[in-house]
Amino acid sequence: MRVIAIVNQKGGCGKTTTTVNLAGCLADDEQRVLVVDLDPQAHSTLALGIDPEEVDENLYDVLAEPGGENRLDEILVDVDEWLDVAPAAIVLSALEQRLASEPLETRTERLRAALAPVSEAYDYVLIDCPPSVGLLTFNALRAAGEVIVPLETSEFAIHGVEKLLETIGLLVERIGHDLTVRVLPTLYDGRTRYARETLARVRERFKDVCFDTVIRSNVKLREAAAKGRPISRYARSANGAIDYGALAIEIEALGLLMNDELPSLDEAPREVVVRFRDERANDVRIAGDFNGWIPDKGVRSLIESDSGTRVWTKILQLPPGEYEYRYVVDGEWVEDPENAQPEPTGAPRSVLVVR
Ligand SMILES: Nc1ncnc2c1ncn2[C@@H]1O[C@H](COP(=O)(O)OP(=O)(O)OP(=O)(O)O)[C@@H](O)[C@H]1O
Ligand SMILES: [Mg+2]
Repeated sequence: MRVIAIVNQKGGCGKTTTTVNLAGCLADDEQRVLVVDLDPQAHSTLALGIDPEEVDENLYDVLAEPGGENRLDEILVDVDEWLDVAPAAIVLSALEQRLASEPLETRTERLRAALAPVSEAYDYVLIDCPPSVGLLTFNALRAAGEVIVPLETSEFAIHGVEKLLETIGLLVERIGHDLTVRVLPTLYDGRTRYARETLARVRERFKDVCFDTVIRSNVKLREAAAKGRPISRYARSANGAIDYGALAIEIEALGLLMNDELPSLDEAPREVVVRFRDERANDVRIAGDFNGWIPDKGVRSLIESDSGTRVWTKILQLPPGEYEYRYVVDGEWVEDPENAQPEPTGAPRSVLVVR
């Protein structure tokens, strides 16, 4: 069972649209799919044709009540043979206060615990998150093995995504398991030069972390949501259906890759050590192609002092190859001052070459 959280703290970037329509396309491929609607706005629930007010029990009963995590089964609603939804309701917004007195450890584990008993029942669990990084999103990240970050290409939001990757990096440290994070360009309008440039920059910046699939702006996606149906069942030949179909195929293919990644001997990782010196910085992390641009993910850090200057040593395990990277110094993304190659067409780049 692959558990994928759809996360971005920015509102309206296509989280719900991605959750529901990816779910529809995977289900059309006869994959068993569960949509977990973790957003109190209940938009995924609605977009799958279910009125949250008509549902007796919802995720709150599973996440908030003592022993509730054993009851996921009881709240599931059948959309069809291949697709189920765990519905949301506005009361989910009270979860944070409700669980305030519980230790962090159990408070953030509730969704993960609830999903454990159904791990044989589904091929995919897609979790739609609210536009904030609170307890609900933390529960989603804790339960997930993969993360999709929808990124709206109609406005320049890369800075926001860098911040989010940073937050995910901090969470990963606390979560104690690895997460595969990928960025999905959404709301793309290829007619505007601005969107084309943004997409080019997103691709340059995130490289492999970015899906090949791009979701174009398509009014049929709005209509399908209003009708309570995934796009593939509402307007099969619309661009929205084509794009989410392509995303489903890409995700299925990536799953196959993840399962048989056996590096050969000469691809075995080498230990790579880099250092960053600064007199004033308090916190220095490293992010690059090698860790999906999640600061300090998979990196060992040492901090020393060298005649008054603090020195951060970062120890990485990297197979041979070229890796672009940057430092995150007190939240600011900067090139390596000791290794920045000027670029004729943009910001200087820092690249590590491992042989
Ligand atoms: N590719 C698209 N083409 C056209 N409209 C879209 C597309 N993606 C999303 N929308 C529309 O944009 C609005 C916001 O999308 P969506 O609800 O998926 O975002 P969200 O990230 O889930 O928002 P929130 O943070 O509020 O949960 C919706 O009205 C949706 O129908
Ligand atoms: Mg939403």
